[in-house]
Parts: sequence; structure tokens; C-alpha cells
Amino acid sequence: MIQTIGILTSGGDSPGLNAAIRGVGKACQSHGMRIVGIRDGFRGLMENRTVSLEGEALSGILTLGGTILGTSREKPHKMLVDGRFRDMTQALVANYHANGLDCLVCLGGGGTQKNALRLKQAGLNVVTLPKTIDNDVALTDITFGFDTALGIATDAIDRLHSTAHSHHRIIVVEIMGHRAGWLALGAGISGGADVILIPEIPYEVEVVAEAIKARKRMGKPFSIVAVAEGAISGQEFAARQDAAEKKKTRKPKEVVAEPELVYAERTLRLAHQLERLTGLEARVTILGHLQRGGAPSAADRLLATRLGTAAADLIRLRQYGVMVAARGETSVPVPLEEVAGQVKLVPPEHPWVESARGVGTSFGD
Ligand code: F6P
Repeated sequence: MIQTIGILTSGGDSPGLNAAIRGVGKACQSHGMRIVGIRDGFRGLMENRTVSLEGEALSGILTLGGTILGTSREKPHKMLVDGRFRDMTQALVANYHANGLDCLVCLGGGGTQKNALRLKQAGLNVVTLPKTIDNDVALTDITFGFDTALGIATDAIDRLHSTAHSHHRIIVVEIMGHRAGWLALGAGISGGADVILIPEIPYEVEVVAEAIKARKRMGKPFSIVAVAEGAISGQEFAARQDAAEKKKTRKPKEVVAEPELVYAERTLRLAHQLERLTGLEARVTILGHLQRGGAPSAADRLLATRLGTAAADLIRLRQYGVMVAARGETSVPVPLEEVAGQVKLVPPEHPWVESARGVGTSFGD
């Protein structure tokens, strides 16, 4: 019996998705399987919107950014239908069977791993690959998308140095990553940022200002501050902990937590505070979705192809219910139960942090 494989991309778009679609698809085809694309993530499966990936459909996409299938952040169990969020899991299950699928391959980040597990629990055969520029998926060395975004953010920091030193300014550059600091840390080190602020190491603005003033005293009246979008001050960290504690012991309605600032508001506030505390002019650059755009790096193409073809091998052996993780030079299957709901944050003593401190970078702690 010929196996029929569905493939979808879910969550934020990321460089390397098309390389992974091609890797899974071409390898599945070489094993004699049929491959069907599903548009716009889990929403597309719920609405039964499919696209043929036969013939030339997988050619010429290796170097393309974004995803040829389209994506969405929708969850099977919480989908907006007729103005209300509903559990549509059974509609997805029905369309999986209507298309005669033997396995559904889901390419995505942390949220996708959770949603894929839900579909597995609903009786479907699923295999996932770890994708995100945030690099925060657990149990894999790295996710595809990260290397490209790292290159883009590093290049941005390189360019921002020109204005920083010419105008004797502080440049605060906000880098994506959601609640993880991998991208800001990696780009901050590679771009030679003077201060790196990440969510895993709460900062004190006075300490950051002191590091900038110390540079000024050394004849360097400019600084680059690489701030992860999720970075928070010690005070905000304490407030978050406090709200989490109260949530454990009280009914949700009784917990009135201070609304948190959105990412960009925090970054702007940081720049204002640094201007006031150091007497230097500060400017803000928010890299935003530029970090997810364009052609994938060679390393991401390689990783996506490696993981994609490994997924096809597992499917051929009918080994389902796993995420294909990168471990050193190898690709290993990890049960979805182990990865779903986990997040890989930067350990505060991680060797990258130690190296950054070693070259005099301040973390504001
Ligand atoms: O998860 C990838 C990511 O780019 C995060 O770094 C960022 O917080 C988020 O997606 C932005 O999401 P959206 O594209 O939906 O605005």
C-alpha cells in the first residue's frame, strides 16, 4: 500500500521551512510515498484546504524564505469559528482520514509540538520537526531558522556600530526571541554588543547605565545594548513571580496583576532611562520581522534537509508520534510527550554567557 503523507507548517514563518518541506517531500517521494500539502497550518486541515506537492512543486524552493504552504498560529482545540473559540480537533481528524493520510508532518515551534501531541492523542500518526528563530524548542540542539536570524541580527548590530560611534550614542537594539534570550545572546556576542539583556537574567537599569558610563570614562562614549524582546528588570521579574505565586493559591478572579508592558514599550522605556542616567543620547532600533525574512542560511538549509530526510526515514518505518531532533551530527526521534510543553531557555551559567562576560559584556545584573 502506498503511504500518503500530509505536511503543514504552523506558528511564525521561519527561514528554512521550505527547505524542510522539500527535504521531507523529496525523501518521502523517493521512498514511493505520496505527499499532500496542507495550507495555513492546522486551520487549513480543519477547512480541508490542500495542495498537491507532486511533480515540480518541490523544485526551486530550497532557497525561498517563508513557507510555500502558508502558516497560522491556530490550535486544533481552540479555533475561531463563527465568532467563538471551539475545539475543532474532530474536524481535523475527519479531514486527515478523508485525505487518506497515513501520517501528518507538522513543522513548527513549541506550540506546534503541543498541538501535534493533541492530534496524536486523538489517534493520528504525526511526526514533527523543530522550527523557530527563537531556538527555544526543548530536547534538540538547535532549531532551523535560528542561524539565519542570528546572521541578520548580527549584521544589524555591525551596521548600528557606525552611528553609535560617529554620534557618541547609545543604540538599543531589540532582538526577537519571545521569552528566550538565545537570539539576543548569540547576536550580541557575534556583533560585539557592550550590553546584552536577556529574559533569563533580569537586569537593573542602574547597573546597565554604570557599564555605559565606565566605557565613556575609558574614552568610548558610545555603546550598543542588545536587548531581547522578552528581557525584564529585576522589579518586573519579582512582580511576575509574585503574580504566579498568587495564582497558585487564589482563585483567578482574585489575582489582579499589574498589566505588563508590551515588548517595544519596555525597550523604549529602557532607552529613556539610559539617556537620563548616562547623559548620552539614545536611539532605539527594533529589528522585528526583518529577522525572519529572506533566504535561509547555508546552515539552516543543511539542518532542515537533514531533519526532513530523517523524518521521511522514520515514516517509512512507521515510527510515529515523535519530533525529529538534532543531536550533534545525528537526528534522533524524541517522543512528543517529552517535548510538548517544555521550553529551552538560556541557563544563566551557559558557556555563551560566560564567554560574553569574559570579554567584558555587561548583562546588567
Ligand atoms: O516565535 C517566533 C517569533 O518571531 C518570536 O520571536 C516573536 O515574539 C513572535 O514570533 C512574533 O510573532 P508574530 O509574527 O505573530 O507577531
